[in-house]
Amino acid sequence: MNDFSNRLITWQKQFGRHDLPWQNTTDPYAIWVSEIMLQQTQVSAVIAYYSKFMTRFPTISTLANATQDEVLQHWSGLGYYSRARNLHHAAQTIMDEHSSEFPQDFVAIQTLPGIGRSTAAAIASFAFNQVQTILDGNVKRVLTRHFAIAGWPGTPKIEKQLWALAESLLPETEMVAYTQGLMDLGATLCTRSKPKCGSCPLNSSCEAYKQNLVSKLPTLKPRKTIPEKQITMLILMHGNEVLLEKRPPTGIWGGLWSFPETEATDDFAAISHNKFGMSVQISRPLPILSHIFTHFKLHIQPQPLQVLKQSTQAKESGHVWLSIEDAVGAAIPAPVRKILLSLTQN
Ligand code: ADE
Ligand code: SF4
Repeated sequence: MNDFSNRLITWQKQFGRHDLPWQNTTDPYAIWVSEIMLQQTQVSAVIAYYSKFMTRFPTISTLANATQDEVLQHWSGLGYYSRARNLHHAAQTIMDEHSSEFPQDFVAIQTLPGIGRSTAAAIASFAFNQVQTILDGNVKRVLTRHFAIAGWPGTPKIEKQLWALAESLLPETEMVAYTQGLMDLGATLCTRSKPKCGSCPLNSSCEAYKQNLVSKLPTLKPRKTIPEKQITMLILMHGNEVLLEKRPPTGIWGGLWSFPETEATDDFAAISHNKFGMSVQISRPLPILSHIFTHFKLHIQPQPLQVLKQSTQAKESGHVWLSIEDAVGAAIPAPVRKILLSLTQN
């Protein structure tokens, strides 16, 4: 076995993490759910969601048979909701096309929605002890430093180089400790800032450490300013109830419940009348909330409106009146939850 993987495996067994809720199992479903949650969310945040999700959806079939609304409700607050929609679709695909059993074939795993090459490798190594390499952001950081590879790892050329390198380092056995070792090293020692090279099992062979390049690697992405967008959310209130509308199935917050959106320059009273058949009194706007997505920054102006009179029926479907308490428990994006909670402060 090569020196890199040997030292990493030995270190993982002694100093790595062994008690995370998704460890000490070979159930591919339990591992798959954790890997999807961990794609864009930190371990500490995932822990709180993971057990609740697994209690409600303990098997592939319980997940496949749930409604999308209920799956999104259990994902509410974790963000990047396409992950939950893909997980749900993939569970249904497994029921229909893989006889209800999580596939073991490495190509078949990657064909499921939401599972890329690195996530497939994590599942295949943890659940089936397959010799496949992960290559997530943490591993890219470890490899670019250990082998002193310059250039932003997101470029196709560097990415290809890193996959080949990662494959060449694979051990023949002990894939669970090795894969977890790569993750643990990146999360606990070879961190983005202030890495603990003095305690690192790889420091004797690490080029960045030797050449004093640790703070220069990995090379940062060329900076581009991200676009910003301002919207107004209409908070139609009637007694203790608020109006929520279901967002279109794709795009940001697809399928979640949210407040109706307009632009700041719109006539809120006219919209309320024309769209919902309500006369309203305009209250003072609440403080602006900013939310950063991968590709843009969203500034939300919450605009409370007190409903004075309502025609017998709301004019559009896909809308519900919910008490603030019930709304907080629904499948809603994090900023909407923040607004709802701020309403209960007054
Ligand atoms: N990040 C991605 N997968 C992980 C895992 N299985 N354990 C800890 N952190 C992770
Ligand atoms: Fe990362 Fe430092 Fe270890 Fe090199 S020696 S792999 S930079 S923690």
